[in-house]
Amino acid sequence: MNFAHRIAHLKAEGAYAVLARAQALEAQGRNIIHLEIGQPDFETYAHVALAGIRAIATGQTRYNPPAGLPALRAALAEDAGRRRGMHFTAEQVVVAPGAKPLLLLPMLALLEAGDEVLYPDPGFPTYEAAIGLAGATPVPLPLLEEQGFDLDLEAFDARLGPRTRMIILNSPGNPTGGILSSRTLAHVAEVARRQDIWILSDEIYFRLAYDVEVPSIVSLPGMAERTILADGFSKTYAMTGWRLGFGIMPQPLAEKMELLLTHSVGCTATFTQFAGLEAILGPQDEVEAVRAEFRRRRDLMVQGLNGIPGIRCPLPQGAFYAFPNVQAFGRPVAELADYLLAEAGVAVLPGTAFGHNGEGYLRLSYANSMENIQKALERMARALAASAD
Ligand SMILES: Cc1ncc(COP(=O)(O)O)c(C=O)c1O
Repeated sequence: MNFAHRIAHLKAEGAYAVLARAQALEAQGRNIIHLEIGQPDFETYAHVALAGIRAIATGQTRYNPPAGLPALRAALAEDAGRRRGMHFTAEQVVVAPGAKPLLLLPMLALLEAGDEVLYPDPGFPTYEAAIGLAGATPVPLPLLEEQGFDLDLEAFDARLGPRTRMIILNSPGNPTGGILSSRTLAHVAEVARRQDIWILSDEIYFRLAYDVEVPSIVSLPGMAERTILADGFSKTYAMTGWRLGFGIMPQPLAEKMELLLTHSVGCTATFTQFAGLEAILGPQDEVEAVRAEFRRRRDLMVQGLNGIPGIRCPLPQGAFYAFPNVQAFGRPVAELADYLLAEAGVAVLPGTAFGHNGEGYLRLSYANSMENIQKALERMARALAASAD
């Protein structure tokens, strides 16, 4: 079969591929601990789920405006603005089925063939996929362990060119858990203003940071008019399967987003948006409790990993991933991840699932119970010691 050139670069997301292999082993009776999946292991908070169920029961099951329910757009403008010290209007907010459409659709609206887009490597695989779908050229920006997985500003400056049209930032970051410093954001903002570049700031882990404030580039002078903020409910409210995300951007771009949504997905599920409204207007104590629990798990996982000979794991400041350095084993990480799945029954992702600069690292999600994390650490320690013999 012949397919269009524009999809030739697409490949499966590493997490789904490893999950499928892990499930095949489970079907043979093996016990597998899942540290590959990037989603909270908690159920959607009960008051949020009930709001969605109530919406279905009361007939909120029809089409709604493509950019989202006006009440949800207004509530998101207020909530996201307050958390970033900004004033946004409801007209700047676009609701979509997940944060993912807020990555692809702005690129379709803004990029021409030959435009260059700088994106983090290692980084979320959808960035490179979306840049290619928009017909633009992806230019990876290295994130280095020795710099706390902040941007390497020298490498950043070296990769800027006359065709640079957009820069993607992700903080706190997947897969590293790193947070971009205020100094980095100020530098990027200065360049963006000077060279008239768009910023796509993926802030889906904005509320999952531990002991640190997450600065947002949108709040720097002159940046609201050139920033697309992408965020969503999946991680903060344990709502991955509800499919609910949002973007905040200059109003003329939001109007184009509405057209793209109209002609692609139509609109976001109505009852899902009612659940989202309850999530942001209702009590936030469960969000805080879950963050405290993730922090405990992070500490257990990082301490355990650093206790395994050959592993060095920096302390991630946000998201729910550890990104340990495993270069000492001298094996390609794809092979090491396969070995850990087969021998230890622990599913992890090779750093290379997030770009070339992920070689030498594994990504382990700590969105799993303390008990399972402890068990996984023990199994990994045993399997890695055996492989060194
Ligand atoms: C960095 C990053 N951005 C965006 C997404 C997509 O989120 P959503 O489920 O809202 O589409 C994810 C999900 O894993 C992510 O890790």
